[in-house]
Amino acid sequence: MATSPDAELFELLDITGEDAAECAHLLETPPDEPVLQAMEAMQKRLGTFPVDSIRADGAAETVWIEALLRFAPSVHAYHLDLGISPAVSAASLADLGLQLRINRRVHGHFGLDTWSWLTLHMAGNLFRLGRLQFHLVPADGQGSDWVLGVHIPEDGGLSPTLVDSSFAEASSFFPRYFPDKPARKATCDSWMLDPYLIERLPDSNIASFARRFTLDRCTDAPTDAVYFTFRQRGLDNLDRLPRETSLQRVVLERIDDGGTWQLGHGHLAL
Ligand SMILES: CC(C)(COP(=O)(O)OP(=O)(O)OC[C@H]1O[C@@H](n2cnc3c(N)ncnc32)[C@H](O)[C@@H]1OP(=O)(O)O)[C@@H](O)C(=O)NCCC(=O)NCCS
Repeated sequence: MATSPDAELFELLDITGEDAAECAHLLETPPDEPVLQAMEAMQKRLGTFPVDSIRADGAAETVWIEALLRFAPSVHAYHLDLGISPAVSAASLADLGLQLRINRRVHGHFGLDTWSWLTLHMAGNLFRLGRLQFHLVPADGQGSDWVLGVHIPEDGGLSPTLVDSSFAEASSFFPRYFPDKPARKATCDSWMLDPYLIERLPDSNIASFARRFTLDRCTDAPTDAVYFTFRQRGLDNLDRLPRETSLQRVVLERIDDGGTWQLGHGHLAL
């Protein structure tokens, strides 16, 4: 089989199998106006440490997939310019391939319903260091105080040892590459910090992760736990979902009992 002209790009972004064929197809013809506009929107943010992702009502997913593919090499070059290793840059950008695979599981076809999330990576301030992702942003939207937003990509178990080494890596990485943006605090906003999980699965990796954080508040997020546990959008047909693992049972039983899953907002000192 001939090597695709995009092989190097797909390796950088960990795009595999059928997704690679679909992506190659998107790159066959020159970008049209909507793609160029999406790329321009990302170019404006590169190196500016934005907190929020780009959102656009009614945006076509394929437009954003193509724009992300075409723009990723600029982000990679920006990382390398800062002296960041090719491996860390690639691990950070590889979330694109992972999200394409997840989209296939959720919807059964090629697409990227999380394209907006990927626009954060393209601003150049979100890194995967070991097991976790860290997003360097100004605290409270101001530029004087900095914080690391913590995210948990799907990639097998979340053992405390892996989490410890990921935080250890972050505490040397950020002062080295962003010395003028010192972060003393990490924050996490996740269904995994819902205190119900600590109560119901006290010996789990998830509970051990949640206990690292001081919980500031909770907000209703009825669908998050279902999405991240079952990769299903929405709360339809819950009776058809498996109840094989303790987490699957806990997630569904709470809803059966009339409860609402929460997003826990927490912080920890670095
Ligand atoms: C977060 C995550 C890595 C935790 O995995 P883990 O380390 O295996 O979790 P734990 O050891 O705490 O799991 C406790 C139990 O829940 C089960 N479990 C954990 N995550 C599960 C998932 N996504 N789907 C189904 N069951 C899951 C485990 O198999 C275990 O079951 P058991 O007690 O019957 O053996 C995993 O849930 C995951 O990949 N989630 C998707 C990413 C995510 O949610 N990110 C946060 C977004 S805000």
